[in-house]
Parts: sequence; C-alpha cells; structure tokens
Amino acid sequence: MRALVWHGKEDIRCDTVTDPEIEDPRDAIIKVTSCAICGSDLHLFHNMIPAMLPGDIMGHETMGEVVEVGKGVKGKLKKGDRIVVPFTIWCGECEQCKRANFSCCERSNRKKELAEKVFGHAMAGLFGYTHLTGGYPGGQAEYLRVPFADTTHIKVPDSLTDEQLLFLSDILPTGWQAAVACDIEPSDIVAVWGCGPVGQMAIRSAVLLGAKQVVAIDCLPERLSMAQAGGATPINFLEESVIGRLNELTDGKGPDKCIDAVGTESHVSFSQPDTVLDRAKQMMMLENDRPHVLREMAYVCRPAGILSIPGVYLGLDDKIPMGHIMNKGLTIRTGQTHVNRWTGDLIARIEDGQIDPSFVITHTVDLEDGPEMYKVFRDKQDSCIKVVLKA
Ligand SMILES: NC(=O)c1ccc[n+]([C@@H]2O[C@H](COP(=O)([O-])OP(=O)(O)OC[C@H]3O[C@@H](n4cnc5c(N)ncnc54)[C@H](O)[C@@H]3O)[C@@H](O)[C@H]2O)c1
Ligand SMILES: [Zn+2]
Ligand SMILES: [Zn+2]
Repeated sequence: MRALVWHGKEDIRCDTVTDPEIEDPRDAIIKVTSCAICGSDLHLFHNMIPAMLPGDIMGHETMGEVVEVGKGVKGKLKKGDRIVVPFTIWCGECEQCKRANFSCCERSNRKKELAEKVFGHAMAGLFGYTHLTGGYPGGQAEYLRVPFADTTHIKVPDSLTDEQLLFLSDILPTGWQAAVACDIEPSDIVAVWGCGPVGQMAIRSAVLLGAKQVVAIDCLPERLSMAQAGGATPINFLEESVIGRLNELTDGKGPDKCIDAVGTESHVSFSQPDTVLDRAKQMMMLENDRPHVLREMAYVCRPAGILSIPGVYLGLDDKIPMGHIMNKGLTIRTGQTHVNRWTGDLIARIEDGQIDPSFVITHTVDLEDGPEMYKVFRDKQDSCIKVVLKA
C-alpha cells in the first residue's frame, strides 16, 4: 500500500510499504477513505519529538471502512462499518479508561518502559506518533491496523460526509475539551491563542458553550478572519500588544479563561524577546519548548481564572511564571484529548447543525501529494489552514 513515511527532519515521503495485518485478536483493519495532517505532525516533521524512527508511518486523523476484524472484536465492529479512528488508542478495561481518561490508558502503549523513563509514567498509545507513545503505524496510508478496535473507534452515520466527520478523530474533540476545561460561565471572556485548526475548534466550542466573548490571537490574517467568522474578536500579535488589547477588551480585568492552542512552536520574533531566548536555548539543548504563550496567559489572565492548554509541550522549560500562577490562584488544565469522552455528544451536535467542522478545510489532495502538503501547511502557503488527504 501507499503511506506517508517519516525518514528524518523535514523528510516525509509517499512510499510503498507492506499492508497491515491482524496481529492481535482485538485488531481491525480499515481501508482509509480520508485522513488529515495535524499541527502535531509538524512537531514530528521538525524532528522536535524524540523517539521517531525512519520508516514510521505518519498520521493520527483517519477514517474509513472496516475490511477485516480479529476474533476478539466480538461483534463490536464488522466488515463494512464506517468508522472514524480516535488518535488515542484505549483498552476500555484499565482504571484510567474506566474513568474516561482515555489518553492516559494504562495498557495501550506497547512501549511503556520508554515512556516511563521519560515521563515517569506511560500514557496511551497514539497512532503515527513517537515510540514514546507506542510507535504505532499511522493512518496517512491506504490501510490502517486499529489495535483495541472493539473500543478504539467512533461509529459514524452515513448521512454525514467524511469532511463533516473526520475531525472527530482529533481537532474537534481537542478544541471542545479545551473549552470544556474552562468551565465557561455566561459572563466569561475567553481568549484563545493560536488560530490553527485546534484554535478554530476551541473558538467555536467556547461560543457554543456560551462564553460572553471570545478573543482570538494569531498573526495570520486568513486564520484571524476564519476566527472572526466563528464569532471571535481578533488580535494580530504582530500589529498590536496582546496584553494591552486584552486588558482594553476586559476593562483591565483580564480574560477569565485562557486557551493555549499554540504549544511548543510559538513564533520566534524580536518583538517577543523571550521567544528568541527560548530558541537559542533549544539550539543548545537547554530547553525543550518555547512557552511564550504560557507566560503571556499567566500574566494577563484574571485572578482565579483557568489556563487550558491543548497545545502540545514536550519537556523541560525555563521561566515558567509559577509566582504569577500561584499568587493569582490560576488553575492549569491540559493533556492529550480523551477523544471518545466527547464524540457521542459532538456527533449529535454535527447532526443537529450546531457545528460543521468541515469549515476549516482549505486543501484536499491525493495521498501522493502529502509530502508537498506538509511544507505548504508548515509554511502557511496558499492560505493553508487544514489539509485533507484522500487515500
Ligand atoms: N492536546 C491534544 O490532544 C492535541 C491534539 C491536536 C493538536 N494539539 C496541538 O495543538 C497545537 C495547535 O495545533 P494546530 O493543528 O492548530 O497547529 P497549527 O500549527 O496549524 O497552529 C498553530 C497556530 O499558532 C499560531 N501562533 C504561533 N505563535 C503564536 C503566538 N505567540 N501567539 C498566538 N498565536 C501563535 C500560528 O500562527 C498558527 O496559526 C499544536 O501544538 C498541536 O500539537 C494537541
Ligand atoms: Zn493531532
Ligand atoms: Zn485502558
């Protein structure tokens, strides 16, 4: 089959690889109909996340048709079923899965020891990500093996298109979980940093959850326009002071809730000198991330507010303002998304017309064109916001 394969930094190729097979009774194989490139894939593209190996198949936003099931799937899925595959692989049996903490599943990471060494504990296995999360082949491919397939799937109605459903795999529940984590009250002003696909979903989720006002921060006009179309007030951080404008919009109180949909790869700019320092430290292996947004949020957030962080961070960072966070009584909520915790409700909302996640798609191409699209998406060429690949 054809698949997008990681060969090293900024080197992803469409290769011919061996078709996946059932390896465990709980596996299923799907024929992929649509898949997408995520901002998290860019961290791998840039080789920022350790424990990738040449030959790893990329992709964790995938849907398709079940073509084979193992004996252990026991009728939960059958040939011909149309499913979206959540990016978090979960067993359904461990204590964390029973608490619906699916991204912390204690059994689905098949390279547990590696993750335990780095993070203290292993988290769930993820598709097409680092070997720290199991090193499972991803779904930017013609076929995908789904481990723990009896639980790790989202059955979807035929009445909706792939484009409306595909993002149930990741960015829609990720934006939704980030907004839910904000415990939004009708009087809340919610600020969202980053208007990539995750930020866009967080903005629309915060609006749906009844925020009084949502403010969107980025520097890319087309992304800010999309945020504005979703009901947000835009701030272009290259043109105005984020802190100044947020204080102006909130009568000096600061936003009640702040969402970081940027994560580790905050833009580096001399107008934000800490980002230049972070970049230098990253080059000297003294720091893993560029936590500019985290610092800005802790400074501007209203006391007793919430910092919700769906943006991915990798490791050890400097100048984390613990004093601001402690003295202002801020709550931090973060994590990989517990995808299946939210998807039943989200499907109902898509069917009901409350949200149509396909609004974010700017490019649809053949899988073969995937390697080129990684560059287009990374460089935001051609106003690219979200790429869907057809296998
Ligand atoms: N928690 C999860 O389960 C989960 C799931 C999916 C994605 N993610 C993470 O969410 C983040 C966003 O993903 P995406 O697909 O939207 O990526 P993206 O790269 O398309 O979007 C990031 C956006 O942030 C903007 N940005 C950069 N620096 C900024 C700053 N200082 N202030 C404001 N905006 C800034 C960029 O211009 C860009 O539009 C990534 O870190 C990704 O890994 C997390
Ligand atoms: Zn993702
Ligand atoms: Zn589990």
